[in-house]
Amino acid sequence: MIKWKEMSELHAVSKLEKILKKWFGVEVFYTDIHYKIRSDHMQANYEIKNHFMKIQKEMKFGHEYIEQDIEKTTEMMIAKEGGHTTMYDAFFPHVKGFASKVVFENEYLGTVFVYPFVTESFTAENAKETTKKLVECGVIEAEALAAVEQLKKMSINDIEYCKELVKLVAYEIETFHEEISKREERILALNSELGEKYRYHSMIGKSKKMQQIYNLLEKISSSESSVFIQGENGTGKELVAKAVHYYSPRKDNMFLAVNCSAFNDNLLDSELFGHVKGAFTGAVKDKKGLFEMAHGGTLFLDEIGDTSLSMQVKLLRVLQEGTYLPVGSTSPKKADVRIIVATNRNLKEMMANGEFREDLFYRINVINIHLPPLRDRKEDIPLLVDHFLEKRCAEAGLPTKLMSKKCMERFFDFNWPGNVRELENEIERLVVLSGHEKTITPELLSSRLLESAEDKGPSANMAITSSGNLKRAMEELERVMIREGLRRCNYNKSQLAKELGISRASLIMKVEKYELDKRKKVENE
Ligand SMILES: Nc1ncnc2c1ncn2[C@@H]1O[C@H](COP(=O)(O)OP(=O)(O)O)[C@@H](O)[C@H]1O
Ligand SMILES: [Mg+2]
Repeated sequence: MIKWKEMSELHAVSKLEKILKKWFGVEVFYTDIHYKIRSDHMQANYEIKNHFMKIQKEMKFGHEYIEQDIEKTTEMMIAKEGGHTTMYDAFFPHVKGFASKVVFENEYLGTVFVYPFVTESFTAENAKETTKKLVECGVIEAEALAAVEQLKKMSINDIEYCKELVKLVAYEIETFHEEISKREERILALNSELGEKYRYHSMIGKSKKMQQIYNLLEKISSSESSVFIQGENGTGKELVAKAVHYYSPRKDNMFLAVNCSAFNDNLLDSELFGHVKGAFTGAVKDKKGLFEMAHGGTLFLDEIGDTSLSMQVKLLRVLQEGTYLPVGSTSPKKADVRIIVATNRNLKEMMANGEFREDLFYRINVINIHLPPLRDRKEDIPLLVDHFLEKRCAEAGLPTKLMSKKCMERFFDFNWPGNVRELENEIERLVVLSGHEKTITPELLSSRLLESAEDKGPSANMAITSSGNLKRAMEELERVMIREGLRRCNYNKSQLAKELGISRASLIMKVEKYELDKRKKVENE
């Protein structure tokens, strides 16, 4: 829908309106898709400049004549292919107007009208006819004469020019409407993205990366396909698997998880597929496997990268044929299980080394979810810290504690090799150690986090440099920037010198000054 009010306030549009009024003495008004006038022209207190239209507005059936013109013209225009701007004949003989369609994405949105005028060939005889019609409609003759007298006589050039301007008004409206709808779309998209999505099932996180994962999970919630989850340890792979299950049509059946790396081949075989009595020593009775127990539900195979090639063949068979053999049995069983697998290993690399079967990979890799490490979504840290603090304190029967600002800074600066699991453990530890203190202070942090503070990046140092000796602080900043830079550039000094905007020679001098040479570093370690 076009916001006509806003449109007529547009600078370009109001400018064009003024030009049209001034040069041709016409009125410019708009109609919507229902052919209703959306400008103020027909409102009682709106003063129409053009005398002819003004008396028409004031006379008894004037509105109806205008409306009739609008309807007739618009219908004609819509029926006509192409040619968006048309000159039309009004209800009063010889009187004309222009109409220009407003179209956006092939949709008709309204019309711009310019009214009234006559052509150059308008004779005294024609004028009489027009006046007569006005009088017939109840206008006093003198007034009718004056109004007709004032009608702009347009030359062929004027007509062309006027037509261009009307077209331009319509064009400006189209362009502005496009801008507005794009903006609204963007806002809508942003809102739905940013929305309330701080969590999905039991996953916490509001970073863009997590939002993308939530969106993907939402999309696949009703699908039956296998899901392949990749991510470092502690990034929440199992949480994702649970979220997939509990939001799927299988949610009322079992979700079972098995860590494939925790079993040797034979044990995993019997764990997954079950065994019959006497299948091996110790198999004193039939045992159901996870495939049977998870029937109708979901089976989460964690650390799939740690399975043997022969186990991979068996898994492939279940996925392809939907059947499996319990250990020691000869009659296959039917499986009705959705499979979700996860690994922190690089399966592509394993395939290249012949350690993982390609056919199984392609079978499980229908939907691929890559969980980002925590260091790549640091904006989630405060949220996770709050979440775990609340959880752990509640479990310990304590009021929720606060993390001091300094502590939070350490949490931010730390690299979290163990990801969310490590962060959770750290908080659990802090909750215990802080006893009845309400605020958690940095002395309690585990040495890993404290050490990392010495190893801090430039941003952490900036905070310290806000007081104290300037020269020392600058040197410290320089030292840290060079040290970090060297690591980043893999000790390529030419590259780093370029990045830092100093000469290679000067970088080498500084590296010596701060004893940041790789050789020395290695010796020190
Ligand atoms: N996004 C998250 N929100 C809340 N807790 C998380 C999140 N990601 C991981 N965790 C928690 O971290 C721990 C490790 O998660 P898990 O799913 O076992 O990781 P993975 O299987 O990738 O090693 C669990 O206690 C889990 O609850
Ligand atoms: Mg796990």
